[in-house]
Amino acid sequence: MVEGVTLDCAKADVESSLTSFFEILGGIDMILVAYGQSGDQEFLEVDAPAAAELFATNFTSAAAWCLAAARIFERQSYGTLLVIGSVAGDRGRRSNYIYGASKAGLGVLVQGIAHRLSKCGGRAVLIKPGFVDTPITAGIVKKGPLWSKPDTLGRVIADAAVRGGPIVYAPSYWRLILLIIRAVPAAIFHRTRL
Ligand SMILES: NC(=O)c1ccc[n+]([C@@H]2O[C@H](COP(=O)([O-])OP(=O)(O)OC[C@H]3O[C@@H](n4cnc5c(N)ncnc54)[C@H](OP(=O)(O)O)[C@@H]3O)[C@@H](O)[C@H]2O)c1
Repeated sequence: MVEGVTLDCAKADVESSLTSFFEILGGIDMILVAYGQSGDQEFLEVDAPAAAELFATNFTSAAAWCLAAARIFERQSYGTLLVIGSVAGDRGRRSNYIYGASKAGLGVLVQGIAHRLSKCGGRAVLIKPGFVDTPITAGIVKKGPLWSKPDTLGRVIADAAVRGGPIVYAPSYWRLILLIIRAVPAAIFHRTRL
């Protein structure tokens, strides 16, 4: 049986929502945190409330769901937390560093939860997608071999649900790309328009 619940995840009462899901289901095997907003970088740079809202959605509220999930999985001694971060969180670049910062913060949190849950049988996995053709990227021209379809990401996430982690690049070639991007010295990086 499948039952849907509509929720504003940035405003919901996380503890009571998860407690009621826990009671209805009699335990929780897996939680996927997959919501987020990208925002317009130039607008976010000049509009402090918009930037605060992006951080509240992508980091503060997502962190609250992750921490509540960790408490449940620790208590149960099982359960998998899957969280969608982004390769944008690996290095700040001028075209999207506000979104990137929100995902970087979330990434460190999930890594820490993975470490914590490793002691009790639970798991936490951070999925880091590259470019995916979904509504969040509607305003971007989708050209070139680095763009993936949502189905591809779905398969990576389904796989990460049962093995691997705690950090999964999606698709996996992004690990190498980001290894190189992180290694570029600032003096060279600052000359790019990334
Ligand atoms: N697509 C990419 O290239 C890419 C790359 C890296 C990471 N990601 C991450 O992947 C995740 C999924 O994004 P997507 O690519 O699948 O784009 P998407 O189709 O636009 O999905 C984002 C979803 O988040 C939901 N959402 C936003 N704020 C919410 C809130 N407060 N409460 C509940 N739901 C909320 C949106 O719901 P509504 O439609 O109702 O607003 C939408 O369904 C996001 O975390 C995104 O940052 C995407």
